[in-house]
Amino acid sequence: MDTCNSNTYIILLFHLCCLSSLIFKFGISTTPSNSKILCIPSEREALLRVKHHLIDPSNRLASWNVSNTDCCDWSGVVCSDLTGHIQELHLNTSPPPESYFDDNFVYDDFFYGGNDVHVAYNSSMFRGEISPSLIDLKHLNHLDLSGNDFEPVQIPSFIFEMTTLSYLNLSSTGFYGEIPFQIGNLSNLLYLDLSYGAIGVIPYQIGNLTNLRHLGLKGYQNSLYAENLSWFSSLSHLQYLSLEEANLSKSFDWLQTLEDLPSLTELRLSRCVIDQNHQSIVNFSSLVTLKLSIISSGQYSFVPRWIFALRKLVSLQFSIIEDDFPMFYGIRNLSLLDGIQNLTFLENLDLSSIPLSSSMPHWLYGLRQLKFLNLQSTSLCGTISNDIGNLSSLLELDLSSNNLEGMIPSSLGNLTSLVTLDFRLNQLEGKIPTSLGNLNSLVSLDLSQNQLEEKIPTSLGNLNSLVSLHLSQNQLEGKIPTSMEI
Ligand SMILES: *[C@@H]1O[C@H](CO)[C@@H](O)[C@H](O)[C@H]1NC(C)=O
Ligand SMILES: *[C@@H]1O[C@H](CO)[C@@H](O)[C@H](O)[C@H]1NC(C)=O
Ligand SMILES: *[C@@H]1O[C@H](CO)[C@@H](O)[C@H](O)[C@H]1NC(C)=O
Ligand SMILES: *[C@@H]1O[C@H](CO)[C@@H](O)[C@H](O)[C@H]1NC(C)=O
Ligand SMILES: *[C@@H]1O[C@H](CO)[C@@H](O)[C@H](O)[C@H]1NC(C)=O
Ligand SMILES: *[C@@H]1O[C@H](CO)[C@@H](O)[C@H](O)[C@H]1NC(C)=O
Ligand SMILES: *[C@@H]1O[C@H](CO)[C@@H](O)[C@H](O)[C@H]1NC(C)=O
Ligand SMILES: *[C@@H]1O[C@H](CO)[C@@H](O)[C@H](O)[C@H]1NC(C)=O
Ligand SMILES: *[C@@H]1O[C@H](CO)[C@@H](O)[C@H](O)[C@H]1NC(C)=O
Ligand SMILES: *[C@@H]1O[C@H](CO)[C@@H](O)[C@H](O)[C@H]1NC(C)=O
Ligand SMILES: *[C@@H]1O[C@H](CO)[C@@H](O)[C@H](O)[C@H]1NC(C)=O
Ligand SMILES: *[C@@H]1O[C@H](CO)[C@@H](O)[C@H](O)[C@H]1NC(C)=O
Repeated sequence: MDTCNSNTYIILLFHLCCLSSLIFKFGISTTPSNSKILCIPSEREALLRVKHHLIDPSNRLASWNVSNTDCCDWSGVVCSDLTGHIQELHLNTSPPPESYFDDNFVYDDFFYGGNDVHVAYNSSMFRGEISPSLIDLKHLNHLDLSGNDFEPVQIPSFIFEMTTLSYLNLSSTGFYGEIPFQIGNLSNLLYLDLSYGAIGVIPYQIGNLTNLRHLGLKGYQNSLYAENLSWFSSLSHLQYLSLEEANLSKSFDWLQTLEDLPSLTELRLSRCVIDQNHQSIVNFSSLVTLKLSIISSGQYSFVPRWIFALRKLVSLQFSIIEDDFPMFYGIRNLSLLDGIQNLTFLENLDLSSIPLSSSMPHWLYGLRQLKFLNLQSTSLCGTISNDIGNLSSLLELDLSSNNLEGMIPSSLGNLTSLVTLDFRLNQLEGKIPTSLGNLNSLVSLDLSQNQLEEKIPTSLGNLNSLVSLHLSQNQLEGKIPTSMEI
């Protein structure tokens, strides 16, 4: 019998998808090559001028050249099939993926080589300037410049003359400064994303964009302010709003204004500075997704109570604003979060990195609709209840990086929808339950860095969907079931 001591790694990687699909998407698309309509010569000239001002280190715009006359075939360019006019320009650079299902799941550097991906991203970003020649594309309705590294200047003013736009993405472009009031000129916009570059007061002229469905105003270190948000009430079609990192402390009316938005389904307020005295009951009638922060300052924690009245919530994600040493103090009174048990439609609950410093609250096991439960790095202690087997809708369960002890409950084997299970870095002991072999959908299983012992159950060999298995740094004995060998 082989005995693996605690330093032996047993890491199996059955198949990694080909590397190219792991890197990142450039977001470039082209019209079908059999398209008969050729591009408009004046628009082609405009694009060549745009290219001339761009720095393109990885030569992504190689196809933008004079010998390739049909600019509708150029990468990132989409023309109208009927008129040949350029309608969409996709000059975005997507950052490397950090997520599988949602944006909190961070893969090990082990899988992706960590920095290499970031170096590749950095060297594929566009730099330089965006040429005003863009305004010669009179039929452009979709402009995506996100994820690049342009000069850190205010958004160029010619953008506000492009009134045909219905989609404008200037998230992480490098542009930095106040949002010009002329933004109110772009009245056809349905999607507007100015995240990571905006500072100063949010201009009320955004209230003129009455068709907006999606507004991304994620700020940077609370340097975006709102004073009087009453103009928001004209955005009656708004479905998605991010004001993350904004400083709303001077805006007394923001909650009342936002709750009256009849179409709002997703609201992101993490790391916002908000008025902590505001505890009135609100009624966001259509809200299903909410992302916000717990404020933790020394012995004191603040969770806005109005969230617990939002009975229709499907997704709730918390981050934390750490004023002092929250890992030391934790959430002082965990009963602040008890109201979550009333949110019985929750499918996604993410408390990762919130220092709960307690055992798993028992009401968690009653949230039967949960599909994604992320309690990574929450300083949880105590044991995992057998009632975890009640959460039969779970697709992703992450309890990693805590102080959980005791046995892994065999009822986990009831969670047959599970795709990822991560218990890495705890103090779990005893046998790996045989029942885990029932988890037919499991793609990733990580039980590494615990105190698990005895033989690895042969039932794990039944996990036909498994792509990654981490069992290292335990006191396990014996061999990986032969059916799992590469
Ligand atoms: C022009 O673009 C075409 C199509 O992508 C490509 O085959 C050709 O090599 C390019 N020419 C130059 C000089 O880059
Ligand atoms: C990213 O690329 C730029 C230009 O090529 C270079 O100056 C910069 O140092 C790179 N940054 C990182 C973090 O690699
Ligand atoms: C804008 O681009 C970023 C990626 O850089 C993306 O995360 C975001 O969802 C986009 N916004 C919209 C409205 O599509
Ligand atoms: C607003 O749009 C109009 C065209 O509809 C344009 O003439 C005007 O210059 C734009 N204003 C600004 C400030 O860009
Ligand atoms: C906003 O709308 C008002 C009234 O519809 C109009 O008078 C004003 O010029 C608009 N502002 C901008 C910046 O478009
Ligand atoms: C906010 O602005 C509106 C008009 O723009 C005004 O009627 C209202 O009184 C203001 N509210 C506060 C609290 O200043
Ligand atoms: C938020 O704005 C208020 C009022 O302008 C200011 O006193 C406070 O320091 C700001 N908070 C942060 C974190 O920037
Ligand atoms: C919340 O709003 C909905 C729809 O507008 C309404 O039917 C319901 O009575 C409201 N509830 C409360 C408590 O105000
Ligand atoms: C925690 O908060 C609840 C409700 O606000 C209160 O009843 C309880 O006494 C608090 N517990 C502690 C230890 O402060
Ligand atoms: C949960 O809802 C019930 C019934 O509406 C209410 O009595 C209770 O106070 C709520 N619990 C919390 C912690 O908000
Ligand atoms: C889990 O399910 C069992 C059996 O149906 C039930 O007795 C128990 O109360 C449930 N636990 C929770 C926390 O809902
Ligand atoms: C859940 O698992 C336990 C222990 O493995 C088992 O006794 C129970 O019958 C299972 N319940 C369901 C509903 O499958």
